[in-house]
Amino acid sequence: MKLPFIDLAAQQALIRPQLEAALSRVMEHGQYVLGPEVGTFEQNLGHYEGGAHVQACANGTDAIILSLLALGIGRGDAVFCPSFTYAATAEAVAVTQATPVFVDVNRDTYCMDTASLETAIRETVNVGRSPRAVIAVDLFGQPADYPALKTVTGEYGLKLISDCAQGLGCRLEGKSPLTWADVMTTSFFPSKPLGCYGDGGAVLTHDRNLYERLNSLHFHGRGSRPFDHEHIGMNSRLDSFQAAVLLEKLKLFDDEIRVRNRIADRYSEHFSRHGVRTPHIIGNGLSTWAQYTIEVEDRDNVMIRVQARDIPCAAYYPLPTHLQTAYRDYPRSPDGLPHTEAAMHRVMALPMHAYLSEVDQDLVIRAVLGSL
Ligand SMILES: Cc1ncc(COP(=O)(O)O)c(C=O)c1O
Repeated sequence: MKLPFIDLAAQQALIRPQLEAALSRVMEHGQYVLGPEVGTFEQNLGHYEGGAHVQACANGTDAIILSLLALGIGRGDAVFCPSFTYAATAEAVAVTQATPVFVDVNRDTYCMDTASLETAIRETVNVGRSPRAVIAVDLFGQPADYPALKTVTGEYGLKLISDCAQGLGCRLEGKSPLTWADVMTTSFFPSKPLGCYGDGGAVLTHDRNLYERLNSLHFHGRGSRPFDHEHIGMNSRLDSFQAAVLLEKLKLFDDEIRVRNRIADRYSEHFSRHGVRTPHIIGNGLSTWAQYTIEVEDRDNVMIRVQARDIPCAAYYPLPTHLQTAYRDYPRSPDGLPHTEAAMHRVMALPMHAYLSEVDQDLVIRAVLGSL
């Protein structure tokens, strides 16, 4: 494919000297683990997300596991999550020995559906499980309906976790998901809107005590006395090289989000003129456009035709988590997941990144419209 799905090389070319200098500094001081870049990045990201405490960690999956551990969630607890997401969301729940309960998504936004959530909570209580938390996923970069979710979690006394692996930087009513969520997790996997050059992740919260627990848990549950480990934790740290890369990329992030939004608007303008179902963003929401996803009939064949024109595209997600081998025995909302199971056959993601020229956007638009 000539045209990349996500163009990391173009971004790198823009800041290559700064990246090289930053990586050289790490080699000079030699503190590859927990070097000064990590703390500085945590501070800068916290500032970016409205003054949150930030615990950087090894990846976005660990970020969810650490959040659940810090909230004291484990065996016998039910955690509600969408199935229409990457498997890591439910995987993190299962790893803590808690039970993921799958909830449907809103047909327009692909984010968690509150009616399906409420039905799932009531059923969970009926069967004698203990509901503890909801993980909302900011799918494809857009914020979930946090005010509505917060009403439900408040009513049932549940914790609200934002799995913002795809949505870091997204806003609702101009505010971070942390305005409503108790904890927010994110991933710095290279293809994410804010990606590093390997694996990385972070947990964010405004709760100082929760942050202290996260800080201990990410480092083997260490305590205040040397070699006295107070918790059973993990080894899940962001390394200094990755933090150095992220510090440079964070400087570009707002501009990149603006450009991604311009590209998404342009795509949508062209596609909707031809009757293609384009992404729907929640009112007053700002997406970071981790993916730009349209819906088409006969998706698999349309994708083959688009790829034959040298335009990359991908289906996220052709097999939702509740239908995957390791997850099919976990409970799901008693009303089923009809929106998830409808979307899985129709969704198709197109090239989306801040360095996609108008000429390339036009190539994508023509390839799609010519393949329907
Ligand atoms: C919604 C969601 N949650 C969690 C993760 C896990 O992140 P990581 O790959 O950094 O572990 C991903 C990664 O793709 C994701 O998309």
